[in-house]
Amino acid sequence: AALALWAVIGYLLGSIPFGMVLARAMNLGNLREIGSGNIGATNVLRTGNKTAAALTLLLDAGKGAAALLLARFVTGHEDAAQLAGLAAMLGHCYPIWLGFKGGKGVATFLGLLFALHWPVGIGACIAWLVGAGLSRISSMGAIVAAAASTFLMMGLGAPNALILGVILTLLVFWRHRANMRRIKAGTEPKIGETST
Ligand code: G3P
Repeated sequence: AALALWAVIGYLLGSIPFGMVLARAMNLGNLREIGSGNIGATNVLRTGNKTAAALTLLLDAGKGAAALLLARFVTGHEDAAQLAGLAAMLGHCYPIWLGFKGGKGVATFLGLLFALHWPVGIGACIAWLVGAGLSRISSMGAIVAAAASTFLMMGLGAPNALILGVILTLLVFWRHRANMRRIKAGTEPKIGETST
């Protein structure tokens, strides 16, 4: 019963669409009609507002970390913490408030890695920067970071979180299906661009 409660708390935290909320509050327009239509920081940046994009990144990462750390702090149990974290990720990707059409989970994924074991979070951010830096494509950073995370967990000492890590990685890949298609077709926009 306690575990189910943490799943619900995690889901509710994760389902807060900060990008959508900020874009609306700051009069940046409807994210669904901009760029990829996604609710994440990358698409908020396409409104031209860097502050809003940075805030979206921080808050979407923060809600994932908060869900996991809160459950860990209150229960002292790693299984409750991991479940809350996974639920937060599912909440972000499939929020009930948006008809289950949510984000791609990259910021929340990174926040969760920081909360699980911060060196892995740092490593995944570096992987993102390398992937996105070389290609100038945000989704490429996400794919590289997700792919690297499993190895980072094994190498940097978070083996007890490996199953969660693999699930999160697969979820990030799944949510980037359209991006991968565009990368292959050479039509994926560079960071800050609305389209090619
Ligand atoms: O954060 C999601 C990013 O990897 C891709 O976003 O808007 O380019 O589909 P977007």
